[in-house]
Amino acid sequence: MEIRYEPSNSTTTKSGCLVIGIPEIGSEELLIKNIDSTCNDLIKKLLKNNDFKPKLGSTLVLHNINGIDAERLMLVGIGEPSQLNSRQISKLCNSLADALQKLPITSAKIDCDSFTNNKTNHEIFWERMGSSLEYSNYRYTETKTFDENSLGKLSEILVSSNEVVQAVQSGLVIGKGSNMARFLGDLPANICTPTFLANECEKLAKKIPNISVEILSEHDMNELGMNCFLSVSSGSKEPAKFIICQYHGAMNEDTDPIVLVGKGVTFDSGGINIKSAASSIHEMKYDMCGAASVFGCLQAAAELNLKLNIVGLIGATENMPSHQATKPGDVIKSLSGQTVEILNTDAEGRLVLCDVLTYARRFSPRCVVDIATLTGACLVALGNHNSGLMSTDDGLADELLASGESSGDKCWRLPIEDIYLEELDSNFADIANIGGRYGGTILAAGFLSRFTKDLKWAHLDIAGTAWRTGKNKGSTGRPVPLLMNWLLKLESESS
Ligand code: BES
Ligand code: MN
Ligand code: ZN
Repeated sequence: MEIRYEPSNSTTTKSGCLVIGIPEIGSEELLIKNIDSTCNDLIKKLLKNNDFKPKLGSTLVLHNINGIDAERLMLVGIGEPSQLNSRQISKLCNSLADALQKLPITSAKIDCDSFTNNKTNHEIFWERMGSSLEYSNYRYTETKTFDENSLGKLSEILVSSNEVVQAVQSGLVIGKGSNMARFLGDLPANICTPTFLANECEKLAKKIPNISVEILSEHDMNELGMNCFLSVSSGSKEPAKFIICQYHGAMNEDTDPIVLVGKGVTFDSGGINIKSAASSIHEMKYDMCGAASVFGCLQAAAELNLKLNIVGLIGATENMPSHQATKPGDVIKSLSGQTVEILNTDAEGRLVLCDVLTYARRFSPRCVVDIATLTGACLVALGNHNSGLMSTDDGLADELLASGESSGDKCWRLPIEDIYLEELDSNFADIANIGGRYGGTILAAGFLSRFTKDLKWAHLDIAGTAWRTGKNKGSTGRPVPLLMNWLLKLESESS
């Protein structure tokens, strides 16, 4: 999607739809008086007759209005115009974008003044508008024979103010990053294999000069001693891939990088501890959404030209049962040297991540954030609205919490404390990969913390937020918005 400043009067701009914001105040105080007078006080009348109630996020589309050169006019309710909070901004931008996307149009003009005549931070508002517009434009078509794209897709946004262009543009890039993560997440596991993910990353590196990629094979990982990772892939015919993707954006190329680690389990059957039919096993194609979000962020970081060095580390593998699969009770030596008793082969994400996190040390990272659909327990604890955040570094945790808040892609912190971790004691190894029944999200993070000592590290458990179930089943692209908000802040602080 493209954004363009269109200086001509909103009423005389030709486009598929003119979009204006209407606050919930008396019609005498309408901010769009000049637009309304051009069309004979139509809006005033609609408000008066209750044909349109401008509560937050409501929309009304009208056709062929006299005095307006756009083919349609869309009214969007912006509620109380004083100060919109983060959730209200989401609601407003998402309803606007969803309503626009339903129309058979390719261009729309947004009348900016009618939206930001309030105390809401303009930059945040317009960035969120950009990401919503791009996000709503996502269609999954890859494995459908009817191409919905042939119906025409919104491709150009015209804005009436030059000042919002940059913010909308960054938003579009972030939305594109989310959509990339959604696309990879939505692909079925028979297409999106570890090899496919590795190839996608190589494509990204070909497209973007500042991105380089290295793919380690099972053979390479075996030589390194990444045995916990390999213990997950051993049951599968699909070879595991360790994808190392680097974005070089910092002025000084030796600047310590930010390392993003993604769980890339392209299908999680549970392994020998196979999942039951009741566990919606088909949704386990989404077990690579952490990896997908890392790809989305690398693409967006490069398109925004962030002056940061970022390393994406993806552990890509299937988790399958077979005669070669890891057996419950097996003891495996991790890359860190610590031995792990695998009491449950379905707790495989932490086995992949522990070796990848150990590998991350060689970049002497400024900080490390891993993103993983790690525990069903996270759904029990937090439901679908907040990702789980766990960190041994309060500063880093606070940064991520704040970015969750301002991007509308929230997370909630859970503790990591030694007292919980006693459950991971093993009689036969240095650590077991599962503990008791309760506090599963904390236990999983605690397991990882044994491999991240002295790193500035945080863990995002996105099991409840990475995809939607039911009628709207589909990947959400989270937590790309949270991470991009955080990376943008880090960039603005370091320059
Ligand atoms: N990928 C799953 C976690 C998951 C389950 C995410 C359901 C979203 C929805 C993970 O690999 C897993 O199977 N975890 C186990 C851990 C348990 C064996 C300690 C779980 O959550 O049941
Ligand atoms: Mn599992
Ligand atoms: Zn899993």
